Amino acid sequence: MAKTLPKGTPIFLILFTIFSFSTSATAAGFSRTLSPAKLGLKREKLSHLHFYFHDIVGGRNPTAVRVAEAAMTNTSFTGFGAVVMIDDPLTVRPELSSKLVGRAQGIYASAGQTELGLLMVLNFAFMEGKYNGSSLSVLGRNTVFSAVRELPIVGGSGLFRFARGYAHARTHTFDIGTGDAVVEYNVYVFHY
Ligand SMILES: *[C@@H]1O[C@H](CO)[C@@H](O)[C@H](O)[C@H]1NC(C)=O
Ligand SMILES: *[C@@H]1O[C@H](CO)[C@@H](O)[C@H](O)[C@H]1NC(C)=O
Repeated sequence: MAKTLPKGTPIFLILFTIFSFSTSATAAGFSRTLSPAKLGLKREKLSHLHFYFHDIVGGRNPTAVRVAEAAMTNTSFTGFGAVVMIDDPLTVRPELSSKLVGRAQGIYASAGQTELGLLMVLNFAFMEGKYNGSSLSVLGRNTVFSAVRELPIVGGSGLFRFARGYAHARTHTFDIGTGDAVVEYNVYVFHY
């Protein structure tokens, strides 16, 4: 192999090595190891949150609005390509009039061609009690016709910093006429 390399190669390699070392020395300037206590992180705990998600697509005040679609969306039985932006209320009871604890804000999109499978990319923005102002981020797959769907919780903010966990979603009611759905969520998260 050495035969095929040009004569200047060893010098180039030496220069490259020196350059690499100096780069890693610079890198040390913007990152360091920190003890969790320095960030005020105490013991990690596990929390369970329970609420109802109201996806209102019909009526005069929808909370879920289709914002994009593919040319084939209307002919695909799964609605493949449809993208829906949501700002869905989260309440403590299945009734929309019950106490609001937060809102699910983000996007769901039909990502399956042979089975209805939604890509869910959203934040649960909490507005109640100590969690007011804190959020959990969801990135997952939702096969809405399955009895229980599991969605990963990939992070969070505020009291949910460093959060990770999962959510179980179960359809509580679905109105075929309007398309409105109430979904029960059980969320389990590790956080500090
Ligand atoms: C799909 O159907 C809706 C409702 O009838 C219509 O507004 C929309 O333009 C259609 N989209 C396409 C890409 O044909
Ligand atoms: C949540 O926090 C916001 C902003 O600080 C405040 O305006 C609101 O009243 C709080 N809501 C509750 C239910 O505590």
